[in-house]
Amino acid sequence: MVIKMQQDDVERLKEAVAYEALEYLQEFTHIGMGSGTTIRHLIRLLATHSNRNMVFYPTSLDTELQLRKHKLNVGVLGKNPLDIAIDGADEIDNAGNLLKGGGGALTREKIIKAAAAKYIVVVDETKMVTRLGQKKPITIEILPFGYLNTLKRITAYLSRFDIEWHLFRESKKKLGPLISDNGGILVDVKVKQIFQPKIVEKDLNTIPGVIENGIFPKAADLALIGTKNGVVKKRFISQT
Ligand code: 5RP
Repeated sequence: MVIKMQQDDVERLKEAVAYEALEYLQEFTHIGMGSGTTIRHLIRLLATHSNRNMVFYPTSLDTELQLRKHKLNVGVLGKNPLDIAIDGADEIDNAGNLLKGGGGALTREKIIKAAAAKYIVVVDETKMVTRLGQKKPITIEILPFGYLNTLKRITAYLSRFDIEWHLFRESKKKLGPLISDNGGILVDVKVKQIFQPKIVEKDLNTIPGVIENGIFPKAADLALIGTKNGVVKKRFISQT
């Protein structure tokens, strides 16, 4: 029997997981800060549970605005190595592979992840999958120039995974495609499931016009997973 969770229940799980994450961040100074609704909960909590030494490196304009609203320190990437980064995800599998991009911040999220010594993922249990792609689309950020040609090449490549649908992401308050924080266009491609995420991530990024994609292979060192029975900590070893 499939039990569907109400949005309120999911929100409670996200809050619980954000609360748990606070403890992990206390010993770090330079902290990459992801994007999304779980991270918003975390930032709100940090407003009263952070120490003055902490500097946060945002992965989106939204996160930067949230950090500034709560008077938290915002750093410039490149000056100091990041001790840790923390982020949400749209899907996570048993090996710590992630699918991201639901908030359209995947490119900056990948840059911040690559700059950090450790990577923590905060998710609720609805994000768990046995294979990436089962629930959410692959998000790919592309340049506006030649977008139809780029889309054609993306769908030709992904057709091996049985494409269910694809679209240029739109926003409710703007006509036409949504433009990302980087001036890119977001393409969402829903496939049945993804095999060999590391190879697919690399292959997609070799298509001319592609800026970045939302596959984060073996990304998580630690996942905090909000479940109905409490927050579960899952550690992953030998991450790349
Ligand atoms: C943005 C992302 C986010 O990290 C992801 O969508 C977060 O999900 P949630 O809002 O459920 O915390 O990938 O590009």
